[in-house]
Amino acid sequence: MQLDTIRDTAVSIARGAGTILQNGYGKPIEIEEKSSAYDWVTQFDKESEDFIVNRLVDAFPDHGIIGEEGTNRRGDGRHFWIIDPLDGTTNFAHRFPVFSVSIALFAGHTPLVGIVYDPLRDECFTAAAGLGASLLHGDTKTTMQVSAATHLGESLLGTGFPYDRKSGQRFNLPEVEAMLPHIQGLRRAGSAALDLAYVAAGRMDGFWEFRLNSWDIAAGILLISEAGGRVTDIQGEPLLLPPYGTPQRVDSLLVSNGRLHPLMQTILFSD
Ligand code: IPD
Ligand code: CA
Ligand code: CA
Repeated sequence: MQLDTIRDTAVSIARGAGTILQNGYGKPIEIEEKSSAYDWVTQFDKESEDFIVNRLVDAFPDHGIIGEEGTNRRGDGRHFWIIDPLDGTTNFAHRFPVFSVSIALFAGHTPLVGIVYDPLRDECFTAAAGLGASLLHGDTKTTMQVSAATHLGESLLGTGFPYDRKSGQRFNLPEVEAMLPHIQGLRRAGSAALDLAYVAAGRMDGFWEFRLNSWDIAAGILLISEAGGRVTDIQGEPLLLPPYGTPQRVDSLLVSNGRLHPLMQTILFSD
């Protein structure tokens, strides 16, 4: 099957999952705690994952699937879908209107397709390897390109804070303090997948975060590279997502429009 066909199928699946979230938004939710008291899952995370997995299995029966809410299908051992059925659960649960569905296809370590869908704005950020990145809104399709910013002083950046904040690990406050004097603004919107989509669309110039999971970023990193940006870890090393069957944790992520990368890296990695 051609990559553009696979991408279009994934777009339709992401839109279907987004409709589930949109219909659930603002309705009473059932909350369960996951890794910590701050890390929640709702019935809509699960409903969305069930929908995505069923549709992917129908369309691509040989492919593996890794889903945040527990899906682990090994499949052919080469092609994997990595899905976050609701990225931004804290926002969703508080009725803060920033959340997304993230769906990506990998072959080994290589991203092939990435979709991030924001159901409240009907914005679907899509990419396929070598075919570029586009933003779909209703019937309108726009090519995505990272921003042209060359000076940090004119930049709008994004970041986030990990859930495991009592573990004594790096919590991102020194990095925020180091970065703030150099930039125009900093956002912590609460959906890493959507943050990455906004970097790809040129709405933010860069983003960093520690201890994300592969499902938070699998789609977004392809959006950024196909939109002309750069994706590394905080030390500027290439970012490799963990293989199937291992913890899906990534120590750090740094993305940008490319031009700002060395400057961001110097500031973030100097402490
Ligand atoms: C979270 C969001 C958030 C990021 C967290 C993620 P979830 O995903 O992406 O922006 O800061 O680290 O875990 O739990 O809402 O799917
Ligand atoms: Ca997530
Ligand atoms: Ca999630």
